Amino acid sequence: MSEDPRKILPPYRIKVVEPIPFLSAEERRHALAGAGYNPFNLRAEQITIDLLSDSGTGATSVAQEAVAALGDESYAGARSWFRFVAEVQDLTGYPHILPVHQGRAGERILFTNLLKPGQICISNTHFDTTHANVHLAGAEPRDLPCAEAADLDSVDPFKGNIDLDALERVLNGPDGERVGLVLITVTNNGLGAQPVSMANLEAVRDLCRRHRVPFYLDAARFAENAWLVSRREPGYRTWSPRQIARRAFELADGCVVSLKKDGLSAVGGFIGLRDPDLHARCEANLIATEGFSTYGGLAGHDLERLAQGLREVVDPAYLRARAAATSRLAQMINDEGVDLIQPPGIHALYLNAGRLLPHLAAHQFPGHALGCQLYLDGGIRCAELGSLYLGRLDDQHRLVSPAPFELVRLAIPRRVYSDEHFQYVAAILADIAKDPERVPGYRIVSSPPLLRHFKVRLEPVTRSSTVDAG
Ligand code: F0G
Repeated sequence: MSEDPRKILPPYRIKVVEPIPFLSAEERRHALAGAGYNPFNLRAEQITIDLLSDSGTGATSVAQEAVAALGDESYAGARSWFRFVAEVQDLTGYPHILPVHQGRAGERILFTNLLKPGQICISNTHFDTTHANVHLAGAEPRDLPCAEAADLDSVDPFKGNIDLDALERVLNGPDGERVGLVLITVTNNGLGAQPVSMANLEAVRDLCRRHRVPFYLDAARFAENAWLVSRREPGYRTWSPRQIARRAFELADGCVVSLKKDGLSAVGGFIGLRDPDLHARCEANLIATEGFSTYGGLAGHDLERLAQGLREVVDPAYLRARAAATSRLAQMINDEGVDLIQPPGIHALYLNAGRLLPHLAAHQFPGHALGCQLYLDGGIRCAELGSLYLGRLDDQHRLVSPAPFELVRLAIPRRVYSDEHFQYVAAILADIAKDPERVPGYRIVSSPPLLRHFKVRLEPVTRSSTVDAG
């Protein structure tokens, strides 16, 4: 809390506001039971503070809304497309840009045209839909996060890095021939929103070149990664976030980007490519499944908002204020005795639910239990990143191998919540931390085969059933 307020002032003020609902404790209990104890099934009007995702949930600016009015909705060759593509090419340096309605559409198109069945896709950590889309392309996703990421308390500056030795071992080993893609997620959303250093990206580029393996970025949070590089990596102090982002894109052969995050818009994404043949294959697929290659499932007004959003997001004053806001929330939470993955990232904080709720075993899903309690006590919605999301289950939905950590992600929408909202979140957490044993565990009632966490239904485990579940 010792930051100089003159240095972290958000470069905007609020002009349009949206009311937030306040439900009684009884109404929340009823709502969560009706949602099968899965916050993804709640209605927005049942939520007071929505920290489920930073994706498509940010506030737009007056400049974005002004240019949206200029949106050209021509089916092909719209003016808005040319504005968008010029902005993206200038930012990334890639000659071929394909627009998509959101990141996962880009993943599907890229992976089905780049990966062959039986190949391996290596990542620092695949995001959930990325993981699913690699699978759906018939390939195997493999995560090789750096060793430092396993120590949740360490303040190592680049815990988002890939483990370079492990990557080299796979490339040189018996599976080397099967590696069809190395995909680095910046920042590493699956593992604590931790940034990836430029040194790590350079080393990945060198390894991939030597082994003739394509190297791509999953760059949903390219600007936030660039900001953390400018703060933490020697040699980049004087670079602007835009210059750092441009350099990161330059190191890779291409990228897939969800623009629902650092595009500061509700929808959008793109694939950036250098390879003209791959571009031609992806473009045919895009036209068949997303839309013509000058809109890709987006309206002209979306393309306009995105082109403007991509300028605003690399403003150092904006990034500084956003990083400082997340750090303040982290501090408030730490002050209440609750631990989270260190150091705090920008788009989200990851609560260490395993440590806060030691009375719950992994098969009782402590991360999910904490998420449910945040809703029950304060109408706060967030997402579990623990054994419910990552663990392996048997046919009866019983946990057979737990996730390495039991985490809860508090995602921070861009330009939406103030310190008062954050103080509320910290106060609700403080109440839970004072009496954690009152938080019950959960058991799965029904579960879909893929991307379980989105549609799984659960029920609380009463104290008497805890004994036999053990
Ligand atoms: N890659 C990363 C790193 C992401 O975080 C996401 C989405 C995607 C790809 C997919 O993009 O949603 O536009 O299809 N992350 C959101 C989240 C949903 O809450 O973290 P999308």
